[in-house]
Amino acid sequence: MSIEGGHDAYSVAQDQFWGSVHSKLADLHEKYACERYNSAASLVDLPNTRVPRLNEVSNTLTRLTGFELTAAEAATSGRDFFCAFADGIFHASTGLRPADSPDYTSEPDLVHDLIGHAAILGDPLIAQLYRSFGKAASRTESDTEFTRIASLFWFTMETGLIIENGGVRAYGAAVLSSATEMRSFDNAEHRTFDVADILSQQINDKTCQSFYYVAESFEHIETEVRSCLDRF
Ligand SMILES: [Fe+2]
Repeated sequence: MSIEGGHDAYSVAQDQFWGSVHSKLADLHEKYACERYNSAASLVDLPNTRVPRLNEVSNTLTRLTGFELTAAEAATSGRDFFCAFADGIFHASTGLRPADSPDYTSEPDLVHDLIGHAAILGDPLIAQLYRSFGKAASRTESDTEFTRIASLFWFTMETGLIIENGGVRAYGAAVLSSATEMRSFDNAEHRTFDVADILSQQINDKTCQSFYYVAESFEHIETEVRSCLDRF
């Protein structure tokens, strides 16, 4: 990747890789993503034949929900990442996952951050929840409390599932940015959404999840998550 004219420039091979991954995930979203994700993704309307530029996606998000994307730097800590949500800022990767791992990567990349996070940040309820996570993270100096906030984010905004039209659909970014995980979440353990239980769990972000928390509705998630975050 090089910098040209103030924009990150990607190679033809990287544009093709993005197009291929985007196309595969978009097909899977029709079956596995919740309606809220699919509606927001159609508004965010990520390019499907070339690697998107952060500034163009950011401009669209700002118009939709006030969120901005900024390039994550090596020095961006987990705490910086979360606290920035309070100001409507999402630190996004600019690198792409390895070409031989199009369907799953444990490290955040442009596919994860744009197709997983940015697309659903076009939804006002979700954007507001991200802000609430940021405000809670900003209020606490305790590492223990920060770890609990990160666990709640992980089991909702990264790996959350929801019941919709009699089936189970995904709204979490880690699931929606991985073809492997979308194809496998139905066969993993599904637990009833329970914030107290979530807060006691450790995050394992190195493999597809062995269990997920399934909520009844976004109203349920919003009520439970807000009430929990307000306590930090
Ligand atoms: Fe993520």
